[in-house]
Amino acid sequence: MSLFNKLDQAKIPNHVAMIMDGNGRWAKSKGMPRVYGHREGVKRVRELTEVCAKIGVKYLTLYAFSTENWSRPAYEVNALMTLLVSTIDKELKTLMKNNVKLETIGDIEKLPKKSYESLLKGKSLTKDNDRMTLVLALNYSGRWDIVNAVKRIKEDENLTEINADIFSSYLNTASYPDPELLIRTSGELRLSNYLLWELAYSELYFTETKWPDFKEENFYKALLEYQNRDRRFGGINEE
Ligand code: FPP
Repeated sequence: MSLFNKLDQAKIPNHVAMIMDGNGRWAKSKGMPRVYGHREGVKRVRELTEVCAKIGVKYLTLYAFSTENWSRPAYEVNALMTLLVSTIDKELKTLMKNNVKLETIGDIEKLPKKSYESLLKGKSLTKDNDRMTLVLALNYSGRWDIVNAVKRIKEDENLTEINADIFSSYLNTASYPDPELLIRTSGELRLSNYLLWELAYSELYFTETKWPDFKEENFYKALLEYQNRDRRFGGINEE
């Protein structure tokens, strides 16, 4: 029986964030180049986006390229950028068919021209879709976004008050609710500069499974664990 049947449909998270880690090690363990792992990883992106749309997750935010990833060898950076373009071009039809909106967070203007243009095209074509939003974090980091927000706040002469809600409205993620659940694959136990502000009260789920092996049933397992967590937001839950 699929773990899907065990899910409480009333407790599906609105927003799931994922750190898709372990592509390189997965490929290496098979004696293949790292890029092979990224290619297999794209298949999981596709599957999990469809699963999220199917079960009613409204926002899926994926850490696809961090501001720190530029330090990887040029051939790997190029391969990731090429993969991004080919994936968007290939998957646009499926996004349209599934009524999924594509959005991005991060400084995408600094990506190679082809990747940037492909993203603009994808975002523009899917902008009216409203079943689910797939957010790709590209040339993104949490600290980058926070510093950017502070700069914009400083420039805003009409701003007379500042609180957490107002601050949030200056972030790249302003139009999304905070994720209820963060999933990180491949056994690393850290946030790696991802959604630092937004994950304040999120449930964190870490698994040893590497991203290319993280399939539908693995996701349901994470969701089941999330549904069994006691979320108190700093308060107490009295039965
Ligand atoms: C981490 O694995 C993965 C990345 C830095 C990139 C993730 C990218 C994809 C899954 C493909 C592109 C995505 C889209 C949306 C088209 P790693 O390389 O850090 O693996 P390692 O920790 O084993 O070295």
